[in-house]
Amino acid sequence: MDWARKVLSELRSSDLYRKRVLREGVLDFCSNDYLGLRDHPEVVEEAVKALRDTGLGSGASQLVSGYTRYHRNLEERLAEFKGVQRCVLFGSGYLANVGTIPALAEEGDLILSDELNHASIIDGCRLSRARKVIFPHRDYERLREILRKERGNYNKVLIISDSVFSMDGDTADVRKLLSIAEEFDCLLYLDEAHATGTLGRGRGIMEEFGLRWTERIILMGTLSKALGSYGAFVCGSGDLVDLIVNRARSLIFTTSLPPSLCAGALKAVDIVEKNPELVRRLKERSIHIRRRLSELPLEVPFHGTPIIPIMVWDEGKALRMAEGLLRSGILLQAIRYPTVPKGKARLRLTVSLRYRDEDVDLLLDRLGELI
Ligand SMILES: Cc1ncc(COP(=O)(O)O)c(C=O)c1O
Repeated sequence: MDWARKVLSELRSSDLYRKRVLREGVLDFCSNDYLGLRDHPEVVEEAVKALRDTGLGSGASQLVSGYTRYHRNLEERLAEFKGVQRCVLFGSGYLANVGTIPALAEEGDLILSDELNHASIIDGCRLSRARKVIFPHRDYERLREILRKERGNYNKVLIISDSVFSMDGDTADVRKLLSIAEEFDCLLYLDEAHATGTLGRGRGIMEEFGLRWTERIILMGTLSKALGSYGAFVCGSGDLVDLIVNRARSLIFTTSLPPSLCAGALKAVDIVEKNPELVRRLKERSIHIRRRLSELPLEVPFHGTPIIPIMVWDEGKALRMAEGLLRSGILLQAIRYPTVPKGKARLRLTVSLRYRDEDVDLLLDRLGELI
């Protein structure tokens, strides 16, 4: 195993070695459980009821015998919540992106993808036989230029963007993206992993921008972040969803979600819908925590979302700061290459309604000591 040791030692010497940390007993400042729903008593109760009803696993893929009323009910509920025609579940956000993108874009098509899109989108693009062009982050003029030159050479064009960019916390300008998609007759694929439950009364970026879903829009989202469960969904027109069910290999060739996770997620959607103040409180907390962080001599970009990157730039320094925090019982991971570009390492804080004020005070104190 010399080769493995050599790779690992290279990773260590460039401060890019990663290891998992046990979450128990630490203050967790990097979970995506934005609304604190993963252990909400009603969410847990619904999941336990389904567990008792159906058992642990689903037993098969959706197209064999792993599609239950729990899956169908959640799909219908999500389609209604997101204001779209139809919805289909996937095992995770990663699986949704790697399966859906190649199902929609094939040889003779063009994919245009924002350079800061999530790794699962990048992998989905790699698996597609379409031509791929990466456009600079949020540079919609450049996107327009590419389309002006290239649109005529391709059958379909799929524009892909995160709604909320997962490592920077900024948002796509969906109004511009949609107008470009309409002007050049493209499909628009939005990854709502971090927008579901955090923007637009929890419904996502379309609602935040006051826009309505149309057939050219495909909305992907996860159940694993603000909805406190696990799994993912893709929403679109009836025909597109049908096509995805028939073509997405990461749906066809894998066991479906355990029904209990669907039942818990459905309850989480109900809670978000009935309690719009949760999303408002999350935003207020994000603003408050960002204000506190700006007391420190650190660059902390803020875009009004609960993802707050504390820029450290240097990989080694970011790692040492994260290790120092962990010694004080605080889990705030150093995000480094290849998740972000080299030289742009950061501590990525995600705001959650779970945090207590005294935990935030402790974090600020320790960060101040470590700078
Ligand atoms: C933007 C984005 N898309 C997709 C995913 C993958 O989702 P999941 O964790 O459900 O696989 C993530 C995070 O993990 C993400 O941040």
